Amino acid sequence: MSYRIITAAEAANYINDGDGVGISGFTLSGTPKTVLPEVARRAEEAHAAGKPFKIDLYSGASTGDAIDGALTRAQAIRFRAPFISNPTVRNAINTKEITYTDLHLSLMAQDLRYGFMGKVNVAILEAVDITDDGKVYLTTAGGIGQTVANLADRIIIERNTYHHTIGLHDVYEPLDPPYRKEIPIYKADDRVGRPYVQVDPKKVVGIVEVNMPNEVVVFKELDEVTRKIGENVVNFILEDMKRGIIPAEGLPIQSGIGNVANAVLKGLEECNGIPPLYLYSEVLQDSVIKLMELGRVKAGSTCSLSLSRECLDHVYDNLDFFRDKLVLRPSEISNHPEVIRRLGIIAMNTAIEVDLYGCVNSSHICGTRLMNGIGGSGDFARNAYISIFTCPSTQKGGQISSIVPIVTHADHTEHDVNIVATEWGVADLRGKGPDERAKLLIEKCAHPDYKQLLWDYLKISKCGHVSHNVAAALGMHATFERSGDMRLTDWSKNLF
Ligand code: COA
Repeated sequence: MSYRIITAAEAANYINDGDGVGISGFTLSGTPKTVLPEVARRAEEAHAAGKPFKIDLYSGASTGDAIDGALTRAQAIRFRAPFISNPTVRNAINTKEITYTDLHLSLMAQDLRYGFMGKVNVAILEAVDITDDGKVYLTTAGGIGQTVANLADRIIIERNTYHHTIGLHDVYEPLDPPYRKEIPIYKADDRVGRPYVQVDPKKVVGIVEVNMPNEVVVFKELDEVTRKIGENVVNFILEDMKRGIIPAEGLPIQSGIGNVANAVLKGLEECNGIPPLYLYSEVLQDSVIKLMELGRVKAGSTCSLSLSRECLDHVYDNLDFFRDKLVLRPSEISNHPEVIRRLGIIAMNTAIEVDLYGCVNSSHICGTRLMNGIGGSGDFARNAYISIFTCPSTQKGGQISSIVPIVTHADHTEHDVNIVATEWGVADLRGKGPDERAKLLIEKCAHPDYKQLLWDYLKISKCGHVSHNVAAALGMHATFERSGDMRLTDWSKNLF
Protein backbone atom coordinates (compact mmCIF):
# COMPACT_ATOMS: atom_id res chain seq x y z
CA MET A 1 0.00 0.00 0.00
CA SER A 2 1.41 3.42 -0.80
CA TYR A 3 0.18 6.39 1.17
CA ARG A 4 -0.67 9.85 -0.13
CA ILE A 5 1.85 12.54 0.66
CA ILE A 6 -0.08 15.63 1.70
CA THR A 7 0.71 19.07 3.06
CA ALA A 8 0.00 20.06 6.65
CA ALA A 9 -2.78 22.36 5.38
CA GLU A 10 -4.39 19.47 3.47
CA ALA A 11 -4.12 17.26 6.52
CA ALA A 12 -5.83 19.93 8.64
CA ASN A 13 -8.85 19.70 6.33
CA TYR A 14 -9.51 16.21 7.74
CA ILE A 15 -10.20 17.79 11.14
CA ASN A 16 -13.64 19.31 11.62
CA ASP A 17 -15.44 21.40 14.20
CA GLY A 18 -16.46 19.16 17.11
CA ASP A 19 -13.87 16.45 16.41
CA GLY A 20 -11.93 14.66 19.10
CA VAL A 21 -8.24 14.69 18.15
CA GLY A 22 -5.76 12.31 19.79
CA ILE A 23 -2.05 12.90 19.31
CA SER A 24 1.24 11.14 19.90
CA GLY A 25 3.87 12.60 22.17
CA PHE A 26 4.42 13.32 25.81
CA THR A 27 5.53 16.79 27.02
CA LEU A 28 7.27 18.70 24.22
CA SER A 29 8.61 15.44 22.91
CA GLY A 30 7.17 13.36 20.06
CA THR A 31 4.13 15.54 19.39
CA PRO A 32 3.12 16.28 15.78
CA LYS A 33 4.48 19.67 14.76
CA THR A 34 2.82 21.01 11.63
CA VAL A 35 -0.81 19.88 11.28
CA LEU A 36 -2.26 21.40 14.48
CA PRO A 37 -0.92 24.93 13.77
CA GLU A 38 -2.80 24.61 10.46
CA VAL A 39 -5.90 23.53 12.39
CA ALA A 40 -5.49 26.72 14.47
CA ARG A 41 -5.39 28.72 11.22
CA ARG A 42 -8.58 26.96 10.00
CA ALA A 43 -10.29 27.78 13.28
CA GLU A 44 -9.35 31.46 12.95
CA GLU A 45 -10.78 31.54 9.42
CA ALA A 46 -13.97 29.81 10.55
CA HIS A 47 -14.40 32.25 13.46
CA ALA A 48 -13.78 35.22 11.14
CA ALA A 49 -16.60 33.87 8.95
CA GLY A 50 -18.87 33.56 12.00
CA LYS A 51 -18.68 29.75 12.06
CA PRO A 52 -17.86 27.57 15.09
CA PHE A 53 -14.61 25.60 15.18
CA LYS A 54 -13.43 23.84 18.33
CA ILE A 55 -11.86 20.46 18.94
CA ASP A 56 -11.36 18.21 21.96
CA LEU A 57 -7.64 17.56 22.32
CA TYR A 58 -6.27 14.38 23.92
CA SER A 59 -2.56 13.77 24.40
CA GLY A 60 -0.20 11.76 26.60
CA ALA A 61 0.80 14.80 28.66
CA SER A 62 1.49 18.48 27.99
CA THR A 63 2.40 19.93 24.60
CA GLY A 64 4.20 23.13 23.66
CA ASP A 65 3.30 26.48 22.19
CA ALA A 66 2.91 25.14 18.64
CA ILE A 67 -0.06 23.05 19.78
CA ASP A 68 -1.61 24.16 23.08
CA GLY A 69 -0.48 27.77 22.58
CA ALA A 70 -1.52 28.14 18.92
CA LEU A 71 -4.86 26.35 19.31
CA THR A 72 -5.73 28.37 22.43
CA ARG A 73 -4.93 31.68 20.74
CA ALA A 74 -7.25 30.57 17.89
CA GLN A 75 -9.95 29.68 20.46
CA ALA A 76 -9.95 26.23 18.89
CA ILE A 77 -10.01 24.01 22.01
CA ARG A 78 -13.26 23.06 23.75
CA PHE A 79 -11.90 20.28 25.98
CA ARG A 80 -8.37 19.38 27.02
CA ALA A 81 -6.86 16.47 28.98
CA PRO A 82 -4.76 15.21 30.78
CA PHE A 83 -1.88 17.68 31.54
CA ILE A 84 -0.62 21.07 30.39
CA SER A 85 2.42 23.27 30.94
CA ASN A 86 1.99 26.01 28.34
CA PRO A 87 1.13 29.39 29.94
CA THR A 88 -1.41 30.36 27.23
CA VAL A 89 -3.54 27.24 27.67
CA ARG A 90 -3.09 27.46 31.46
CA ASN A 91 -4.58 30.93 31.43
CA ALA A 92 -7.53 29.86 29.24
CA ILE A 93 -8.24 26.93 31.58
CA ASN A 94 -8.08 29.19 34.63
CA THR A 95 -10.49 31.68 33.02
CA LYS A 96 -12.77 28.75 32.08
CA GLU A 97 -12.53 29.31 28.32
CA ILE A 98 -11.39 25.68 28.05
CA THR A 99 -12.80 22.73 29.98
CA TYR A 100 -9.95 20.66 31.37
CA THR A 101 -9.79 17.32 33.16
CA ASP A 102 -6.74 16.74 35.33
CA LEU A 103 -5.92 13.07 35.20
CA HIS A 104 -3.36 10.53 36.40
CA LEU A 105 -1.40 10.10 33.18
CA SER A 106 -1.53 6.30 33.39
CA LEU A 107 -5.30 6.55 32.97
CA MET A 108 -5.51 8.68 29.84
CA ALA A 109 -5.40 5.89 27.23
CA GLN A 110 -7.61 3.65 29.33
CA ASP A 111 -10.24 6.37 29.93
CA LEU A 112 -10.45 6.95 26.18
CA ARG A 113 -10.86 3.21 25.53
CA TYR A 114 -13.49 2.87 28.26
CA GLY A 115 -15.48 5.70 26.66
CA PHE A 116 -15.12 8.03 29.68
CA MET A 117 -14.30 10.91 27.33
CA GLY A 118 -15.49 11.87 23.87
CA LYS A 119 -14.89 10.05 20.62
CA VAL A 120 -11.46 10.15 18.99
CA ASN A 121 -12.20 11.04 15.36
CA VAL A 122 -8.67 11.75 14.21
CA ALA A 123 -5.25 10.55 15.40
CA ILE A 124 -2.09 12.44 14.46
CA LEU A 125 1.10 10.47 15.05
CA GLU A 126 4.63 11.77 14.70
CA ALA A 127 6.69 8.90 13.30
CA VAL A 128 10.14 8.16 12.03
CA ASP A 129 8.45 6.03 9.38
CA ILE A 130 5.43 3.91 8.47
CA THR A 131 5.51 0.64 6.53
CA ASP A 132 2.99 -0.41 3.89
CA ASP A 133 1.38 -2.81 6.36
CA GLY A 134 0.82 -0.08 8.95
CA LYS A 135 3.79 -0.39 11.32
CA VAL A 136 4.34 3.12 12.70
CA TYR A 137 7.71 3.80 14.34
CA LEU A 138 7.08 6.66 16.78
CA THR A 139 9.68 9.36 17.42
CA THR A 140 10.71 10.43 20.92
CA ALA A 141 7.69 9.47 23.06
CA GLY A 142 5.29 6.60 23.61
CA GLY A 143 2.30 8.58 24.92
CA ILE A 144 -1.13 7.32 23.87
CA GLY A 145 -0.21 6.67 20.23
CA GLN A 146 -1.45 3.08 19.94
CA THR A 147 -4.75 3.76 21.68
CA VAL A 148 -5.74 6.84 19.67
CA ALA A 149 -4.73 5.07 16.43
CA ASN A 150 -7.05 2.17 17.34
CA LEU A 151 -9.94 4.46 18.25
CA ALA A 152 -9.69 7.00 15.43
CA ASP A 153 -11.52 6.85 12.10
CA ARG A 154 -8.79 8.84 10.33
CA ILE A 155 -5.03 8.76 10.95
CA ILE A 156 -2.54 11.41 9.86
CA ILE A 157 1.17 10.59 10.01
CA GLU A 158 3.76 13.33 10.37
CA ARG A 159 6.90 11.59 9.11
CA ASN A 160 9.68 13.47 10.86
CA THR A 161 13.07 12.57 9.47
CA TYR A 162 14.90 14.51 12.19
CA HIS A 163 14.51 11.57 14.55
CA HIS A 164 16.25 8.17 14.82
CA THR A 165 14.32 6.24 17.44
CA ILE A 166 13.60 2.98 15.61
CA GLY A 167 14.22 0.11 18.03
CA LEU A 168 13.81 2.16 21.20
CA HIS A 169 10.04 1.72 21.62
CA ASP A 170 8.26 -1.09 23.41
CA VAL A 171 4.56 -0.73 22.58
CA TYR A 172 2.24 -2.76 24.82
CA GLU A 173 -1.45 -2.10 25.25
CA PRO A 174 -3.22 -4.09 27.99
CA LEU A 175 -6.52 -5.82 27.31
CA ASP A 176 -9.49 -4.26 29.05
CA PRO A 177 -11.31 -5.94 31.96
CA PRO A 178 -12.45 -8.64 32.38
CA TYR A 179 -9.68 -9.97 30.10
CA ARG A 180 -6.68 -8.04 31.44
CA LYS A 181 -3.57 -10.04 32.33
CA GLU A 182 -0.49 -9.11 34.31
CA ILE A 183 1.95 -6.75 32.58
CA PRO A 184 5.04 -8.97 32.41
CA ILE A 185 7.66 -6.35 33.27
CA TYR A 186 9.90 -7.71 36.04
CA LYS A 187 12.94 -5.48 35.48
CA ALA A 188 12.91 -1.80 34.51
CA ASP A 189 14.31 -2.45 31.03
CA ASP A 190 12.29 -5.58 30.14
CA ARG A 191 10.69 -5.40 26.70
CA VAL A 192 7.26 -6.94 26.46
CA GLY A 193 5.66 -5.43 23.36
CA ARG A 194 6.42 -4.42 19.77
CA PRO A 195 8.84 -1.76 18.59
CA TYR A 196 6.06 -0.05 16.62
CA VAL A 197 2.44 1.07 16.80
CA GLN A 198 0.25 -1.09 14.56
CA VAL A 199 -2.35 0.87 12.61
CA ASP A 200 -4.89 -0.08 10.00
CA PRO A 201 -3.34 1.26 6.76
CA LYS A 202 -6.81 1.95 5.36
CA LYS A 203 -7.37 4.60 8.02
CA VAL A 204 -4.23 6.57 7.05
CA VAL A 205 -5.44 9.60 5.10
CA GLY A 206 -1.95 10.85 4.31
CA ILE A 207 1.61 11.47 5.34
CA VAL A 208 2.97 14.94 6.00
CA GLU A 209 6.73 15.15 5.50
CA VAL A 210 8.56 17.04 8.26
CA ASN A 211 12.12 17.56 9.42
CA MET A 212 11.93 19.33 12.76
CA PRO A 213 13.41 18.88 16.23
CA ASN A 214 11.17 18.97 19.31
CA GLU A 215 10.33 22.29 20.92
CA VAL A 216 13.01 23.27 23.39
CA VAL A 217 12.73 22.46 27.09
CA VAL A 218 13.93 25.38 29.21
CA PHE A 219 15.03 24.84 32.80
CA LYS A 220 16.09 27.40 35.33
CA GLU A 221 19.72 27.11 36.46
CA LEU A 222 20.11 25.24 39.75
CA ASP A 223 20.41 27.65 42.67
CA GLU A 224 21.55 27.18 46.24
CA VAL A 225 18.08 26.11 47.41
CA THR A 226 17.41 23.50 44.73
CA ARG A 227 20.97 22.20 45.02
CA LYS A 228 20.54 21.75 48.77
CA ILE A 229 17.24 19.90 48.27
CA GLY A 230 19.00 17.52 45.86
CA GLU A 231 21.77 16.96 48.39
CA ASN A 232 19.23 16.28 51.18
CA VAL A 233 17.41 13.67 49.09
CA VAL A 234 20.62 11.89 48.14
CA ASN A 235 21.75 11.84 51.78
CA PHE A 236 18.38 10.43 52.80
CA ILE A 237 18.71 7.62 50.20
CA LEU A 238 22.24 6.85 51.45
CA GLU A 239 20.98 6.71 55.02
CA ASP A 240 18.14 4.32 54.07
CA MET A 241 20.68 2.11 52.31
CA LYS A 242 22.84 2.03 55.43
CA ARG A 243 19.77 1.01 57.47
CA GLY A 244 19.04 -1.76 54.97
CA ILE A 245 15.63 -0.32 54.08
CA ILE A 246 16.79 0.15 50.50
CA PRO A 247 18.59 -3.04 49.37
CA ALA A 248 22.33 -2.73 48.71
CA GLU A 249 21.80 -3.20 44.96
CA GLY A 250 19.48 -0.17 45.00
CA LEU A 251 15.99 0.27 43.60
CA PRO A 252 14.79 1.89 40.37
CA ILE A 253 14.14 5.60 40.61
CA GLN A 254 11.44 7.80 39.19
CA SER A 255 12.15 11.46 38.89
CA GLY A 256 9.41 13.99 38.20
CA ILE A 257 9.54 17.13 36.13
CA GLY A 258 10.78 20.60 36.97
CA ASN A 259 13.70 22.40 38.49
CA VAL A 260 13.75 20.57 41.80
CA ALA A 261 13.64 17.18 40.04
CA ASN A 262 16.69 18.23 38.04
CA ALA A 263 18.50 19.21 41.20
CA VAL A 264 17.88 15.77 42.71
CA LEU A 265 19.34 14.09 39.62
CA LYS A 266 22.32 16.44 39.82
CA GLY A 267 22.74 15.32 43.45
CA LEU A 268 22.88 11.69 42.26
CA GLU A 269 25.53 12.64 39.70
CA GLU A 270 27.76 14.04 42.42
CA CYS A 271 27.32 11.12 44.83
CA ASN A 272 29.53 8.03 44.89
CA GLY A 273 27.78 5.90 47.52
CA ILE A 274 24.75 4.85 45.47
CA PRO A 275 25.19 1.81 43.19
CA PRO A 276 24.32 2.06 39.47
CA LEU A 277 20.53 2.20 39.27
CA TYR A 278 17.68 1.75 36.81
CA LEU A 279 15.32 4.57 36.03
CA TYR A 280 11.64 3.74 35.66
CA SER A 281 10.01 7.07 34.98
CA GLU A 282 7.69 8.96 32.67
CA VAL A 283 10.24 11.51 31.50
CA LEU A 284 13.95 11.23 30.99
CA GLN A 285 15.92 14.47 31.12
CA ASP A 286 19.46 15.45 30.09
CA SER A 287 20.88 14.68 33.51
CA VAL A 288 19.97 10.98 33.15
CA ILE A 289 21.85 10.71 29.86
CA LYS A 290 24.90 12.04 31.67
CA LEU A 291 24.33 9.56 34.52
CA MET A 292 24.20 6.72 31.96
CA GLU A 293 27.51 7.78 30.48
CA LEU A 294 29.00 7.96 33.98
CA GLY A 295 27.77 4.40 34.61
CA ARG A 296 25.47 5.62 37.43
CA VAL A 297 22.27 4.70 35.60
CA LYS A 298 22.26 1.24 33.97
CA ALA A 299 19.18 1.75 31.81
CA GLY A 300 16.11 3.95 31.66
CA SER A 301 12.49 3.08 31.00
CA THR A 302 10.54 6.19 30.11
CA CYS A 303 7.56 7.45 28.16
CA SER A 304 9.43 10.38 26.73
CA LEU A 305 12.91 11.57 25.88
CA SER A 306 12.47 15.10 27.24
CA LEU A 307 15.94 16.16 26.20
CA SER A 308 17.49 19.39 25.02
CA ARG A 309 18.27 19.44 21.30
CA GLU A 310 22.01 19.06 21.91
CA CYS A 311 21.48 16.11 24.22
CA LEU A 312 19.08 14.37 21.83
CA ASP A 313 21.54 14.87 18.95
CA HIS A 314 24.22 13.39 21.18
CA VAL A 315 22.04 10.31 21.80
CA TYR A 316 21.41 9.93 18.04
CA ASP A 317 25.15 10.24 17.34
CA ASN A 318 25.86 7.50 19.90
CA LEU A 319 22.92 5.17 19.37
CA ASP A 320 25.09 2.06 19.64
CA PHE A 321 25.82 2.98 23.25
CA PHE A 322 22.26 4.03 24.14
CA ARG A 323 20.14 1.49 22.21
CA ASP A 324 20.01 -1.16 24.96
CA LYS A 325 19.82 1.49 27.71
CA LEU A 326 16.65 3.28 26.63
CA VAL A 327 13.14 1.83 26.51
CA LEU A 328 10.30 4.10 25.37
CA ARG A 329 6.87 2.97 26.58
CA PRO A 330 3.25 4.12 26.29
CA SER A 331 2.26 6.32 29.26
CA GLU A 332 -0.16 3.62 30.36
CA ILE A 333 2.84 1.33 30.97
CA SER A 334 5.58 3.80 31.99
CA ASN A 335 3.22 4.92 34.78
CA HIS A 336 1.38 1.70 35.47
CA PRO A 337 0.60 1.17 39.20
CA GLU A 338 1.07 -2.61 38.88
CA VAL A 339 4.61 -2.30 37.53
CA ILE A 340 5.58 0.56 39.87
CA ARG A 341 4.50 -1.48 42.92
CA ARG A 342 6.24 -4.62 41.63
CA LEU A 343 9.58 -2.98 40.84
CA GLY A 344 9.76 -1.08 44.14
CA ILE A 345 10.32 2.38 42.76
CA ILE A 346 11.81 5.27 44.73
CA ALA A 347 9.52 8.03 43.50
CA MET A 348 10.61 11.66 43.63
CA ASN A 349 8.06 14.32 42.83
CA THR A 350 7.62 18.01 43.52
CA ALA A 351 5.00 19.65 45.69
CA ILE A 352 3.52 23.12 45.45
CA GLU A 353 2.62 22.91 49.14
CA VAL A 354 2.62 20.28 51.89
CA ASP A 355 0.40 20.35 54.96
CA LEU A 356 1.36 19.54 58.52
CA TYR A 357 0.28 15.91 58.15
CA GLY A 358 1.94 15.26 54.77
CA CYS A 359 -0.91 15.91 52.33
CA VAL A 360 0.43 17.40 49.11
CA ASN A 361 -0.88 19.88 46.58
CA SER A 362 0.99 19.46 43.29
CA SER A 363 -1.35 21.17 40.89
CA HIS A 364 -3.27 24.25 42.03
CA ILE A 365 -1.79 27.53 43.27
CA CYS A 366 -3.77 28.76 46.30
CA GLY A 367 -6.21 25.91 45.61
CA THR A 368 -7.72 27.54 42.54
CA ARG A 369 -5.25 28.28 39.73
CA LEU A 370 -4.10 25.25 37.79
CA MET A 371 -0.32 25.16 37.41
CA ASN A 372 0.31 22.07 35.26
CA GLY A 373 -1.72 19.21 36.67
CA ILE A 374 -1.15 16.11 38.76
CA GLY A 375 0.71 14.47 35.86
CA GLY A 376 2.26 11.15 36.75
CA SER A 377 3.03 12.11 40.34
CA GLY A 378 -0.01 10.24 41.69
CA ASP A 379 0.69 7.13 39.62
CA PHE A 380 4.12 6.94 41.21
CA ALA A 381 3.54 8.32 44.71
CA ARG A 382 0.60 6.00 45.46
CA ASN A 383 2.45 2.87 44.37
CA ALA A 384 6.09 3.58 45.15
CA TYR A 385 8.33 1.68 47.55
CA ILE A 386 9.29 5.08 48.94
CA SER A 387 7.37 8.19 47.94
CA ILE A 388 9.44 11.37 48.30
CA PHE A 389 8.08 14.89 47.77
CA THR A 390 10.42 17.85 47.48
CA CYS A 391 9.91 21.60 47.35
CA PRO A 392 11.64 24.79 48.40
CA SER A 393 10.43 25.77 51.89
CA THR A 394 9.17 29.12 50.59
CA GLN A 395 8.06 30.59 47.28
CA LYS A 396 7.92 34.09 45.79
CA GLY A 397 10.97 35.47 47.54
CA GLY A 398 10.02 34.04 50.94
CA GLN A 399 6.47 35.49 50.99
CA ILE A 400 4.77 32.11 50.77
CA SER A 401 5.43 29.12 53.00
CA SER A 402 5.30 25.76 51.22
CA ILE A 403 4.59 24.04 54.54
CA VAL A 404 1.01 25.01 55.42
CA PRO A 405 -1.63 24.02 57.99
CA ILE A 406 -4.03 22.60 55.39
CA VAL A 407 -3.34 22.18 51.69
CA THR A 408 -5.59 24.33 49.54
CA HIS A 409 -6.00 21.46 47.05
CA ALA A 410 -5.24 17.82 47.78
CA ASP A 411 -3.55 15.72 45.10
CA HIS A 412 -1.73 13.27 47.36
CA THR A 413 -3.05 12.41 50.78
CA GLU A 414 -0.82 11.67 53.76
CA HIS A 415 -1.26 7.97 52.95
CA ASP A 416 0.89 8.37 49.82
CA VAL A 417 3.65 10.58 51.15
CA ASN A 418 6.58 8.98 53.00
CA ILE A 419 9.27 11.63 52.87
CA VAL A 420 9.24 15.41 52.48
CA ALA A 421 12.46 17.26 51.70
CA THR A 422 13.13 20.99 51.52
CA GLU A 423 16.44 22.84 51.56
CA TRP A 424 16.35 22.73 55.38
CA GLY A 425 16.11 19.00 55.81
CA VAL A 426 14.13 15.80 55.45
CA ALA A 427 10.99 14.75 57.34
CA ASP A 428 10.66 10.96 57.42
CA LEU A 429 6.93 10.43 57.94
CA ARG A 430 6.97 6.64 57.72
CA GLY A 431 5.36 4.92 60.66
CA LYS A 432 4.53 8.22 62.38
CA GLY A 433 1.25 9.43 63.86
CA PRO A 434 -0.24 12.82 62.92
CA ASP A 435 1.33 14.77 65.81
CA GLU A 436 4.76 13.30 65.10
CA ARG A 437 4.38 14.15 61.42
CA ALA A 438 3.45 17.75 62.15
CA LYS A 439 6.39 18.12 64.54
CA LEU A 440 8.85 16.67 62.03
CA LEU A 441 7.57 18.79 59.17
CA ILE A 442 7.90 21.98 61.20
CA GLU A 443 11.27 21.09 62.70
CA LYS A 444 12.94 19.66 59.60
CA CYS A 445 11.29 21.26 56.58
CA ALA A 446 9.62 24.60 57.37
CA HIS A 447 11.49 27.85 56.81
CA PRO A 448 12.60 29.42 60.15
CA ASP A 449 10.44 32.50 59.42
CA TYR A 450 7.30 30.33 59.46
CA LYS A 451 8.04 27.83 62.20
CA GLN A 452 6.46 29.80 65.08
CA LEU A 453 3.32 30.45 63.04
CA LEU A 454 2.93 26.74 62.37
CA TRP A 455 3.50 25.85 66.05
CA ASP A 456 0.89 28.47 66.96
CA TYR A 457 -1.56 26.93 64.51
CA LEU A 458 -1.15 23.57 66.21
CA LYS A 459 -1.72 25.20 69.61
CA ILE A 460 -5.09 26.64 68.56
CA SER A 461 -6.08 23.45 66.70
CA LYS A 462 -8.87 21.29 68.01
CA CYS A 463 -7.50 18.08 69.36
CA GLY A 464 -8.48 14.87 67.62
CA HIS A 465 -6.61 12.13 65.80
CA VAL A 466 -5.66 14.87 63.36
CA SER A 467 -5.64 18.32 64.99
CA HIS A 468 -6.98 21.23 62.99
CA ASN A 469 -8.64 24.57 63.45
CA VAL A 470 -10.79 24.68 60.37
CA ALA A 471 -12.18 28.14 61.14
CA ALA A 472 -8.67 29.58 61.35
CA ALA A 473 -7.69 27.72 58.20
CA LEU A 474 -10.76 29.08 56.40
CA GLY A 475 -9.85 32.59 57.46
CA MET A 476 -6.43 31.95 56.07
CA HIS A 477 -7.89 30.78 52.77
CA ALA A 478 -10.09 33.86 52.53
CA THR A 479 -6.93 35.93 52.88
CA PHE A 480 -5.26 34.03 50.07
CA GLU A 481 -8.22 34.67 47.82
CA ARG A 482 -8.15 38.38 48.55
CA SER A 483 -4.42 38.84 48.21
CA GLY A 484 -3.83 36.15 45.58
CA ASP A 485 -0.80 35.06 47.57
CA MET A 486 -0.17 33.47 50.90
CA ARG A 487 1.42 36.48 52.58
CA LEU A 488 2.78 35.92 56.02
CA THR A 489 1.47 39.13 57.60
CA ASP A 490 -2.13 38.89 56.29
CA TRP A 491 -2.11 35.24 57.11
CA SER A 492 -1.28 35.66 60.77
CA LYS A 493 -3.82 38.52 61.20
CA ASN A 494 -6.58 36.14 60.19
CA LEU A 495 -5.34 33.26 62.21
CA PHE A 496 -4.97 34.97 65.57
N1 COA B 1 2.44 29.30 45.93
C1 COA B 1 2.54 30.10 44.84
N2 COA B 1 3.31 29.77 43.77
C2 COA B 1 3.99 28.63 43.82
C3 COA B 1 3.95 27.78 44.94
C4 COA B 1 3.12 28.15 46.03
N3 COA B 1 3.02 27.39 47.13
N4 COA B 1 4.73 26.71 44.70
C5 COA B 1 5.24 26.87 43.46
N5 COA B 1 4.81 28.03 42.94
C6 COA B 1 5.14 28.60 41.63
C7 COA B 1 6.62 29.00 41.61
O1 COA B 1 6.81 30.27 42.22
C8 COA B 1 6.90 29.02 40.14
O2 COA B 1 6.33 30.17 39.58
P1 COA B 1 7.05 30.96 38.36
O3 COA B 1 6.94 30.01 37.20
O4 COA B 1 6.22 32.18 38.25
O5 COA B 1 8.46 31.19 38.81
C9 COA B 1 6.10 27.81 39.64
O6 COA B 1 5.07 27.59 40.63
C10 COA B 1 6.93 26.55 39.49
O7 COA B 1 7.59 26.30 40.70
P2 COA B 1 9.15 25.94 40.81
O8 COA B 1 9.58 26.15 42.23
O9 COA B 1 9.93 26.66 39.76
O10 COA B 1 9.14 24.37 40.66
P3 COA B 1 9.17 23.33 39.49
O11 COA B 1 9.56 23.87 38.17
O12 COA B 1 9.99 22.27 40.07
O13 COA B 1 7.62 22.89 39.37
C11 COA B 1 5.57 21.84 40.02
C12 COA B 1 6.91 22.45 40.48
C13 COA B 1 4.91 21.27 41.27
C14 COA B 1 4.68 22.92 39.41
C15 COA B 1 5.88 20.71 38.97
O14 COA B 1 6.77 19.79 39.50
C16 COA B 1 4.60 19.98 38.56
O15 COA B 1 3.89 20.42 37.67
N6 COA B 1 4.30 18.83 39.24
C17 COA B 1 3.07 18.07 39.01
C18 COA B 1 3.23 17.01 37.96
C19 COA B 1 4.30 16.01 38.30
O16 COA B 1 4.73 15.90 39.44
N7 COA B 1 4.75 15.26 37.33
C20 COA B 1 5.86 14.37 37.52
C21 COA B 1 5.53 12.94 37.43
S1 COA B 1 6.87 12.09 36.59
